[in-house]
Amino acid sequence: MTESASLAVEYTHPEHLTRARELSEQLGLNLLCGADLGRCDYESLLRVTREGLQLQPTGRKAPGPVWVDFVGGAVAHRRLHGGGSGQLIAKAVGVRQGVRPRVADVTAGLGRDSFVLASLGCEVQLIERVPVIQLLLADGLGRARQDDLEVAEIVARMQLIEADSITWLAEQAGREDRPQVVYVDPMFPHSDKSALVKKEMRLFRDLVGDDADAGLLLEAALAAAANRVVVKRPRKAPVIPGPAPSVQLAGKSSRYDIYALKKLA
Ligand SMILES: C[S@@+](CC[C@H](N)C(=O)[O-])C[C@H]1O[C@@H](n2cnc3c(N)ncnc32)[C@H](O)[C@@H]1O
Repeated sequence: MTESASLAVEYTHPEHLTRARELSEQLGLNLLCGADLGRCDYESLLRVTREGLQLQPTGRKAPGPVWVDFVGGAVAHRRLHGGGSGQLIAKAVGVRQGVRPRVADVTAGLGRDSFVLASLGCEVQLIERVPVIQLLLADGLGRARQDDLEVAEIVARMQLIEADSITWLAEQAGREDRPQVVYVDPMFPHSDKSALVKKEMRLFRDLVGDDADAGLLLEAALAAAANRVVVKRPRKAPVIPGPAPSVQLAGKSSRYDIYALKKLA
């Protein structure tokens, strides 16, 4: 976590005290009961709620929480109406008739891209290095397993690995079960820190930083992947410094840079 993020663990209902205390000890954060969002000394709260674990920005006009919800909201909408294997991300990782590559998503974040790939039938390993994001992901995966049979089948293909991906990838190189595709979506460093960047996004950025080691991550990915590396970038962003991609697929706001190593069968 970057130093600018000031965070405490919070709970409201006594039934969540044990879990909240566990989290505050694990993360070395203060524990609050029933905080007033409008007058809070912390920039954000990691809240244990009946709905799940939520990262809540504070302040008088605080937006909603950042959390992992694979069952409802935007993720459910994309699963049901998002275009299936016609989506650009599916083409980028090489999903086609009879081909469902094993993917390592080495920048798991809130798991949205991993979930899309798992709903298309890929086995996905999600690697994340920031402890608070790991906890949000684990919580979202746990609820998905319990709350919805269809979504439970999808998340059964998702395995969370708590690690730095550069180290993890170095351990995969040469293994028979190494990922066929390594998927990389690092934070893109925005120079513009104005109100244009949504507050939730700023909170996420404060937690994870700018992923300044994306070049090293690409290098490790290229050494470990069996078939291809896919890098997601904002549409007009420069490529990550290093070898040039073999192909680029551009959509409305994002672009996929594909580094082909070996044909996917
Ligand atoms: C832009 S977000 C990814 C969003 C994700 N694709 C999604 O769909 O939710 C980047 C994430 O990658 C993680 N990350 C960046 N470099 C990493 C590394 N070397 N090892 C593990 N996680 C990393 C960051 O902590 C952050 O959570």
